[in-house]
Amino acid sequence: MPDDRKPIISGNWKMHLTHLEAIQLVQKLSYALTRDDYEAVDVTVHPPFTDLRSVQTVLDADRIPMILGAQHCHWEEKGAYTGEISPVMLAKLNVRYVIAGHSERRELFSETDDWVNKKVKAIIAHEMTPIMCVGETLDEREAERTQAKVEGQVQAGLDGVTAEQVAAMVIAYEPIWAIGTGRTATPDDAQQTCALVRATVARTHGADAAGAVRIQYGGSVKAANAPELMAGPDVDGCLVGGASLDPDEFARIARYRTT
Ligand code: PGA
Repeated sequence: MPDDRKPIISGNWKMHLTHLEAIQLVQKLSYALTRDDYEAVDVTVHPPFTDLRSVQTVLDADRIPMILGAQHCHWEEKGAYTGEISPVMLAKLNVRYVIAGHSERRELFSETDDWVNKKVKAIIAHEMTPIMCVGETLDEREAERTQAKVEGQVQAGLDGVTAEQVAAMVIAYEPIWAIGTGRTATPDDAQQTCALVRATVARTHGADAAGAVRIQYGGSVKAANAPELMAGPDVDGCLVGGASLDPDEFARIARYRTT
């Protein structure tokens, strides 16, 4: 990976942890990570909405350079959208990264490419960074439709986003069959599809955007497989679910370069 793409390791806590448990996790994680780690790698954590304020307070009070992220948001600034959270609310909490279009949201909550695109634009408009997720199901993989699916999602999600904005974004390639299943894409598979994401960005937004956009792999990442996954030249980071709930394991993933 070129030196100008700083690796980014993100912990997606999904629907786990009360705000009290979240405070404990972030504190334990802060003991496990060092200044050198933060210099080498961007570390983002994505707690549930009810935990954001508590985690933000701990990060601010203890000056922990971990970066606050959210898992989802609506694209409108306000309005009659019961249960939704707006990008304005997240930005006010110093949230810097927001996941858009996680496969669980696409599958379980029927999020479409069009919604993902609206969210990506709204997140950017509020000066936060989208982590836009793409990836194929097992059926699509077996039918050799991975390329078409991933290219289509990248193209649709980035529609109308400028090349400069894409350059500053993160895209996470997460094969759906590898999420929470213990099955991981091989390092070659992960590299190949991350390279495909980059090639798609090159076609839609030009070589500069493609060279700068950071691409994560996600799906059963653990401390044991992170170094080989991160070795792919187009893999700039990991989006970690289950293993991010264990502070020592997540810290070891963030320190993949020394293991
Ligand atoms: P996992 O989840 O690491 O538990 O497979 C990854 C994700 O959903 O982002």
